[in-house]
Amino acid sequence: SVAEKGEFRHFMLKEIYEQPEVVKATLQGRISATKLLEQAFGNGASAIFDQTKQVQIIACGTSYHAGMIAKYWLEDIAGIPCAVEVASEYRYRKHVVPENTLFLTISQSGETADTLAALREVQDKVLASLTICNVPGSSLVRESDLSLMTNAGPEIGVASTKAFTTQLVALLLFTLALARRSGLSEAREAEIVGALHQLPELLLAAVKLDASIESLSRAFAEKNHTLFLGRGPLYPVAMEGALKLKEISYIHAEAYPAGELKHGPLALVDKDMPVVAVAPNNALLDKLKANLQEVKARGGELFVFAGADHIKPEEGLRVEQMPDVPEILEPIVYTVPLQLLSYHVAVLKGTDVDQPRNLAKSVTVE
Ligand code: G6P
Repeated sequence: SVAEKGEFRHFMLKEIYEQPEVVKATLQGRISATKLLEQAFGNGASAIFDQTKQVQIIACGTSYHAGMIAKYWLEDIAGIPCAVEVASEYRYRKHVVPENTLFLTISQSGETADTLAALREVQDKVLASLTICNVPGSSLVRESDLSLMTNAGPEIGVASTKAFTTQLVALLLFTLALARRSGLSEAREAEIVGALHQLPELLLAAVKLDASIESLSRAFAEKNHTLFLGRGPLYPVAMEGALKLKEISYIHAEAYPAGELKHGPLALVDKDMPVVAVAPNNALLDKLKANLQEVKARGGELFVFAGADHIKPEEGLRVEQMPDVPEILEPIVYTVPLQLLSYHVAVLKGTDVDQPRNLAKSVTVE
């Protein structure tokens, strides 16, 4: 069926709004009330997971950012070493493949030339290959040993949105599969699965910030540079926010792990460079707050996405209040406001939101 925009002005906005629903579709049949249903990964998956000692993730663009978040999860929850690299680097260098490596590609289209070439190059050196992919029957799905579909439905906007959040859901399921084998307790598994059951509603709450984020977008439309900050698994979320802004609004945006600010980007901070921070209430919040003070002290204008009452708005510091989110879901839910921000900035600037200049939805040639 041909995708239609319906009531929405752009496919991108429609796809942002679809996230609660498509995340449900990604979870459908893959979790019970308390457990991962491992059969979701297909025949032979369990035996492969039993032998997996490390994970090599390869992807491009937005899918690469999903992989970066998965690294935090795999090492934290499953205690499995994980390396993440963009396909166009990995395929052209001599790389070491440790024994019992599970090779994981992440791709919306399943046709990205560099990702596919990396898979072909490495196939006989790895334990097995798994792809997390959105297009059934695509090249990556056909050529990988295992696949887990993201079920996001057709994504038309060049700037990826619902593919990313469903990739994160799939990656969390994958993390659970490996974590079970390295001592994850049933109680902890039930806790994470319980959080996943809440995810569609939390995404809905995040989407409802639309109008408020639209008003915030005015502070960006006339600017030439923006800095995005996060820590831990929210650092790749900041990278994804910066990528979205670059792709569709053509504003230069850069993401930094907030702890690195003092090693360079602080020199750039002034009133003309808005600084966006994703600041959920986790163990790193106090560290992040100190980083935000470093920005404020230098006259930077801050836009902070934070949980209830953890950061006080003040002159030069605007707080966008996020729903309270279980920590494991923070990277997924905090992505949504950044998608909306880039969308509204692009609309204000009058760019071609769904078809940004110089970019393609799927890069099937080198
Ligand atoms: C292009 C698209 C991006 C996408 C990237 C990787 O650059 O514009 O939105 O993230 O390719 O594509 P894939 O289909 O492999 O996820």
